[in-house]
Amino acid sequence: MSPLTDILKSRIAEDGPISLHDYMTLALSHPRYGYYTAAEPFGPEGDFLTAPEASQMFGELIGLWAIDVWMKLGSPETFLLIEMGPGNGTLMSDALRSARLMPGFLKAADIRLIEMSPRLQKKQAALLGGYHVKWHTSLADLPEVPIILIANEFFDALPIHQYVRTGTKWHERCVTHDGSDFKFTLSLDSVDVGPAPDSAEGDILESCPMGETLIADISGRLRTSSGAALIIDYGPAEKIMGDSFQAVRKHRHAAPLSHPGEQDLTAHVKFATLKRIAEAHGIEVHGPTPQGLFLERLGIEARHHLLRQKADEAQRKALDAQLRRLTSAAEMGTLFKAMAFAHNMPTPPEGFGN
Ligand SMILES: C[S@@+](CC[C@H](N)C(=O)[O-])C[C@H]1O[C@@H](n2cnc3c(N)ncnc32)[C@H](O)[C@@H]1O
Repeated sequence: MSPLTDILKSRIAEDGPISLHDYMTLALSHPRYGYYTAAEPFGPEGDFLTAPEASQMFGELIGLWAIDVWMKLGSPETFLLIEMGPGNGTLMSDALRSARLMPGFLKAADIRLIEMSPRLQKKQAALLGGYHVKWHTSLADLPEVPIILIANEFFDALPIHQYVRTGTKWHERCVTHDGSDFKFTLSLDSVDVGPAPDSAEGDILESCPMGETLIADISGRLRTSSGAALIIDYGPAEKIMGDSFQAVRKHRHAAPLSHPGEQDLTAHVKFATLKRIAEAHGIEVHGPTPQGLFLERLGIEARHHLLRQKADEAQRKALDAQLRRLTSAAEMGTLFKAMAFAHNMPTPPEGFGN
C-alpha cells in the first residue's frame, strides 16, 4: 500500500471530506508518492498502453503533421516544438526521427517538454539524448516565437471536479474514508455550477479547470506568436452529463478510489468546452476528428504498407495489430479524437478534411 493512503486518510480526518479534484491531484501528482511521480505507468509491464507506446507509426505521423504546420507557417527559422506530458518520450523520439526528412525543420525546432515528474523527465532525457531539449513544468516564460504544440493523452490526466444534481441544487462529489475504504460523499453546501445543460436528479456534471486554463493559455500564445496545437485524447465530441472518472491498473479497469498513487486516474476530455474557449480567443479550431480517420488522412495505411514490406511474418502480424489498435472503431479509432487549434496559418493543418 502506498504511503499516499495514510496521507489522504490524515487529511480527511483533519479537514473532512476532500473534493474529487483534490483527491485526483494528490493521487496523480503528490511530489513523492503521486502516480506519475512514483509509479511505472506505461507499456505491457505497466498499467496502460498509449498510442505512441503501441506503435512507432503514431509518433512518426505526428512528426509529419508538425512539418506540414511548420511549412504552412512559412518555415520560420526558429519555433518552439512543445510536447505536454511526454511520458516516456516515445512520441517525440519517433516524431523527430521522421523529421530527419526535413533538416530545416529540425534545425529550427527549439524542443521544450512540459513534464511535472522528475522521474519521467529522466526517461525522456535518456531517450532524446541526441537532441537539445529543455524541460518546463508550465507554459509560462517561453520565448515569443511561433509554436507547434503536441499533447497526447495529457488532458485526460488532469484533475476534475464532479457535481451531482440533488433536487434543484448541485453538490460537489467528495471523497471520505469510512475506516476501511475511501468512499464518495457529497458536499454539505450546494455549489453554483453556472448554466448547466439539461439534467435530471442524480446527473453528474464534470469540469476540468486546469485543462480549461491551459487551453486559454495556449490560445493566448497562438494569438501572440502564431502556430498550431494538436490535442489527441479520449472523450465525447459534444459535452454530455455523466461520470467518466475511471481507474486503470495492470491494463484493467479498477475501483477508482482503491490504491491511490498506484493506478492511473483519468476522465473524458470535454472537447466542446475546449473548442468554445479557444474560439472565444479568436483561434481556429479543427475537429474533434476520430483518431482513426485523422491517422488515415495523415497516411497511416501507406506507412504501414512500407514497414510491412521490410518485415518478417511475425513483425507483419504485429504491424497489422498496431494499425488496428490505432485506427479501428473497436479499439482506439473512434473513442480517441484529434483536435487542432491554429492561428495565422494560411491553410488549415492536415488531418481534418479541410
Ligand atoms: C497519460 S501520460 C501520457 C504520456 C504520453 N503523452 C503518451 O502518450 O505516452 C500523462 C503525462 O502527462 C504528465 N503530466 C500529468 N499532469 C501533468 C501536469 N499537470 N504538468 C505536467 N505534466 C503532467 C505525466 O507525468 C505524463 O508524462
